[in-house]
Amino acid sequence: MMRSAPKYLVPVALLALACTLVSAYDPSPLQDFCVAINSSTSAGIVCEWKFCKDPKVVTANDFFFPGLQIPGNTANRLGSNVTLVNVDKLPGLNTLGISLARIDFAPYGLNPPHTHPRGTEIIVVAEGTLYVGFVTSNTDNKLFTKVLNKGDVFVFPIGLIHFQFNVGKTNAVAFAGLSSQNPGVITIANAVFGSNPPINPDVLTKAFQVDKNVVNYLQKQFCSDNRN
Ligand SMILES: *[C@@H]1O[C@H](CO)[C@@H](O)[C@H](O)[C@H]1NC(C)=O
Ligand SMILES: *[C@@H]1O[C@H](CO)[C@@H](O)[C@H](O)[C@H]1NC(C)=O
Repeated sequence: MMRSAPKYLVPVALLALACTLVSAYDPSPLQDFCVAINSSTSAGIVCEWKFCKDPKVVTANDFFFPGLQIPGNTANRLGSNVTLVNVDKLPGLNTLGISLARIDFAPYGLNPPHTHPRGTEIIVVAEGTLYVGFVTSNTDNKLFTKVLNKGDVFVFPIGLIHFQFNVGKTNAVAFAGLSSQNPGVITIANAVFGSNPPINPDVLTKAFQVDKNVVNYLQKQFCSDNRN
């Protein structure tokens, strides 16, 4: 016979389910706007399901984010920096299915292979020269690449692994629109070799068909306190 779950677990489970359902994709707006105010429950769950701020007290500042002229600091191992303006930084984005990023690159800086699970990305190069690409899913793992110069636009379809590499001798800057208020990002190397806790090295040794020392080395490189 099944024992029934403690009573308090039921509302928490329902709420977790509700979060999962409504955050699967950005919903279509049912009103002009729904400026986000954070929702949290007594159980302490904060999810992408946001309450709307009372429209009577909404101001222009709820739709405003200053400062994207400021370059991100690229003095890190990859030589790149992404400044994302998502719903957490611009509450007026809530329910609108869109966000924006500024991506800075030092010379030869790399925005490494990553995917946005919830958003297609379209970029325009404002400065410099970028070698960009994405790979299709396992049907054929086909690579599409392009060298982009100032003013060039490129689109990375939702969910596919992509990268941007500054192949010029100068800094580069791109701006990206993303088709979600919260597109999310999974950086492949960090997720696979830097998960917390680490994935069992036997799994990675077999998956990547390499010696265990290689896996140990990569896990050291990407462990969570060694990212930048
Ligand atoms: C990106 O730039 C911001 C602003 O300069 C800085 O606070 C942040 O630490 C940088 N991130 C990385 C990964 O270097
Ligand atoms: C909502 O919570 C997120 C994550 O904790 C935080 O970054 C953001 O500033 C909060 N937004 C508002 C409008 O309070």
